[in-house]
Amino acid sequence: MINIGLLGCGTVGGGVIKLLAKNQSTITTKTGSVITVKKVMEKDKDKCLQLGLDENIVTDKFEDILDDDTIDIVVELIGGLEPAYTFITAAMEKGKHVVTANKDLIAVKGKELFATALANNVDFYFEASVAGGIPIIYPLKQSLAANQIEEIIGILNGTTNYILTQMSQEGRDYSEVLREAQEMGYAESDPSADVGGLDAARKLAILSSIAFNSRVTLDDVYVEGITAITPRDIQYARELGYVIKLLAIAKEIDGQIQARVHPAFIPFNHPLAYVNGVFNAVFLRGDAVGEVMHYGRGAGEMPTASAVVGDIIEVARNMAFNTNTRIGCTCYEDKEILPITELCAQYYVRMTVTDRPGVLAGIAGVFGNHEVSIDTVIQKGSRDGKAELILITHLVKEKSLQESLAVLRGMDIVSDINNVVRLEGVSRA
Ligand code: HSE
Repeated sequence: MINIGLLGCGTVGGGVIKLLAKNQSTITTKTGSVITVKKVMEKDKDKCLQLGLDENIVTDKFEDILDDDTIDIVVELIGGLEPAYTFITAAMEKGKHVVTANKDLIAVKGKELFATALANNVDFYFEASVAGGIPIIYPLKQSLAANQIEEIIGILNGTTNYILTQMSQEGRDYSEVLREAQEMGYAESDPSADVGGLDAARKLAILSSIAFNSRVTLDDVYVEGITAITPRDIQYARELGYVIKLLAIAKEIDGQIQARVHPAFIPFNHPLAYVNGVFNAVFLRGDAVGEVMHYGRGAGEMPTASAVVGDIIEVARNMAFNTNTRIGCTCYEDKEILPITELCAQYYVRMTVTDRPGVLAGIAGVFGNHEVSIDTVIQKGSRDGKAELILITHLVKEKSLQESLAVLRGMDIVSDINNVVRLEGVSRA
């Protein structure tokens, strides 16, 4: 018998309880042990009772789980930095294995948590922290371990992918779609971490650390959200053969790591262009395996419970053969992080300019002076003496592009730089 102490009985906690019960017989066969939820820590006792839990196993005190020596695995599903960090650390120091879905914590305190797990000879698993039900952490640590990972490009946030998909398919405004998504329960009442890119950045920090064997924390990830994307940008992207997605991109370039989350144009025929609605996907390239894409549900009760219970099963199997800590921290290198200014990319620039002879030449001159080469220029209609210019650059340094835009912003002929979006996945197409 293996006993679990569950911290948090919310959506995912409830899913874990249901899944362990529903598939108990097959899980017992696979692990050789009956896995039992021995105690649940939850302030809102009614939530647990509604799940059919016996009231005697519900507590609001962490110590009831910590001090119970029959509890083998602590499953942390309360989220956030504290008290989750204190609870997980204390559990590991007591010799308990830990399974968590807590991306906020791992993206910031991964190094400390792995060190504590190793020092106490316990397992620390966190598959559900990135892309919910999609298996990606364990595959990176095991099935793909033979590869040098060259790049990871993820759609790691369902809320933003849903909003951008709706905007693309129905030509509607960002704020209108967000409001509807909130009403339908697809978006949080405070959606700032999702739409601002922070949620995806936390997940990318975790994936990059594993993929490149070097610690990447949230602070190392460049982040831009989707709030500036308009139906106009989406329409122009379509005309040019692209879709706009919020991408989480990590690459190793000459031994340095680049990690960034921002909206991007990707070509219609890129596999990620087909990932719509609340779905997530992780596209990666390894030197041996080539391109791989994992696709599925990045959130929700049962998809996330699938990942959590998968980790519990793995810990149970390790316990059966006394092989815990077999796969621990993989960050054995210390690579530099490349600043966003050093990025080399293609860019879409939409600007409003005065519509008269010589304006285009003036703008082209500024880009030329900064070594920014233009691939495509489209001028869209003229109204009140103003025209909209759509430019796609060749591959250029971010620093050069930003310097040229700063000059353009100061020129009388430029009324506005309406939007700038990076292109991704073009060379593959
Ligand atoms: N809020 C996230 C999303 C799910 O919209 O994908 C949890 O990380």
